[in-house]
Amino acid sequence: VSIPVITVDGPSGSGKGTICRLLAQRLGWHLLDSGALYRLTAVAARHHGISLDDEESLQVVAAHLDVQFLAGTTDDVKIVLEGEEVTDTIRTEAVGADASVVAAMAPVRQALLQRQRDFVAAPGLIADGRDMGTVIFPEACLKVYLDASAEERGSRRYKQLISKGLSASLEDIVLDLKARDARDMNRSVSPLKPAPDAVILDTTKMTIEEVLEVVLDEAKHKG
Ligand code: C5P
Repeated sequence: VSIPVITVDGPSGSGKGTICRLLAQRLGWHLLDSGALYRLTAVAARHHGISLDDEESLQVVAAHLDVQFLAGTTDDVKIVLEGEEVTDTIRTEAVGADASVVAAMAPVRQALLQRQRDFVAAPGLIADGRDMGTVIFPEACLKVYLDASAEERGSRRYKQLISKGLSASLEDIVLDLKARDARDMNRSVSPLKPAPDAVILDTTKMTIEEVLEVVLDEAKHKG
């Protein structure tokens, strides 16, 4: 019997991260945050003084990422890169932008492919990303594609930052999101797009709880 995988793809700010964390909790399944791997590659490259246009070196960095995902007492995992905790540093907008640059490189994606598949473990895996349903787990039992308007996604990100006591400009965030979307959707390798068999949800006017209910319901029917 194969181990079930539920993929959740979509643009930044679509609510993927939150939904995936809650799904993993509810189902008691493992979680793959694939975006973290691209963020970690970007951070590791900076550590080693590698420029973001040096594709060959970036591939080596991605292939040899020395990272640990340590389960904490809460639902949060602690991320340790080369012995240094980077849980918060990888979440900045700047690292997100760098991540989308390295993520456009085919050799980098290839270097991270097997590492992502290795996350599959019983009783199941929730895979959060951009190409989970299209490239990494084409055999997934359920594929979800979450979307929302750029304005709504920007305002969610804005509220997140403000609630953490950080200063932010809604306008800049929406502009950043649109630039990142364009890069993710228009790249030639593994562009962000729904798998043909994905359930597409526009979450613009939905609460997190509502999205969760729909996905759990789909999982019941397909799982
Ligand atoms: O999801 P997150 O914002 O952490 O992802 C950071 C960047 O990594 C995305 O903008 C995207 O360019 C890239 N990414 C990707 N494929 C994935 C996950 C993330 O290309 N499966």
